[in-house]
Amino acid sequence: MLIRVVPGIAAGGHAKIRTGTDDQKFGLSLTDGSAQHAITRVLGQPRLELVGLHCHLGSQITAVKPYLSAVRRLVGLLARVREQHGITLPELDLGGGHGVAYLPGEPALDVVGLATKVRAELAGSCAAAGLPVPRLAVEPGRAIAGPAGVVLYRVLSVKRTGSHTFVAVDGGMSDNPRPALYGVRYAPRLVGRRSAVPTEPVTVVGRHCEAGDILASDVHLPGDVRPGDLLAVPVAGAYHLSMASGYNLVGRPPVVAVTSGHARLLVRRESLADIQERDIGL
Ligand SMILES: Cc1ncc(COP(=O)(O)O)c(C=O)c1O
Repeated sequence: MLIRVVPGIAAGGHAKIRTGTDDQKFGLSLTDGSAQHAITRVLGQPRLELVGLHCHLGSQITAVKPYLSAVRRLVGLLARVREQHGITLPELDLGGGHGVAYLPGEPALDVVGLATKVRAELAGSCAAAGLPVPRLAVEPGRAIAGPAGVVLYRVLSVKRTGSHTFVAVDGGMSDNPRPALYGVRYAPRLVGRRSAVPTEPVTVVGRHCEAGDILASDVHLPGDVRPGDLLAVPVAGAYHLSMASGYNLVGRPPVVAVTSGHARLLVRRESLADIQERDIGL
């Protein structure tokens, strides 16, 4: 087993997805000695095999520096484990959190830079502590799955209030709660037809019964956007369907795999019958 260590490092796109800071639900703190205490307890259990340390600093991290700080702190702990217990732990898992761009021009983590610098830092810190270099693991999640997915919405209605244009679509916070949860911004675009009409700022909203059901505010779409149009939202392959809910009985969307002009249904659309099937009744 690995011990999940909280190294006391603030990194990540939003407070709700920062998991490397002290005094929160994840992991065992390095700062207050909880991690060291847990290591001693695990080593005292003959049926448990401790093979290393783990951390996950958070999500949407766009800089390499926090990972380097984590390496230094965790190698410091590996050195203390060896001093106190005479054991050299062979594994170090740095978690994931590699940030991706949701909007054009947004920063993303340079994963090649991450690989080079983390390995150099690990080698340097281990050499300074007289430790062998442990087996290094990383857990990329969104960086792989996120850019692989695009969500498609059908426009249901367009409403102009004078100060805003609201473009309502056939999904919303039940298939993607992230904008409402922690203000994630997306870049929807019109697909399926060309428009020569200049773009104008619009708010893309969902069909759920909350005014906060906003998928993207202040984005630009052609001024003739109308019911029946299709909107595509890139970078929807992670934390989208997996966070979907049954809110307002809208039903979870299908998932279609597309490659080289071929499409295959992977997950079918959730129907009212699916929802009713679980309802046992009075
Ligand atoms: C322990 C652990 N590893 C990896 C990940 C993947 O994170 P991301 O998708 O931000 O790369 C998570 C996400 O919560 C996690 O909790």
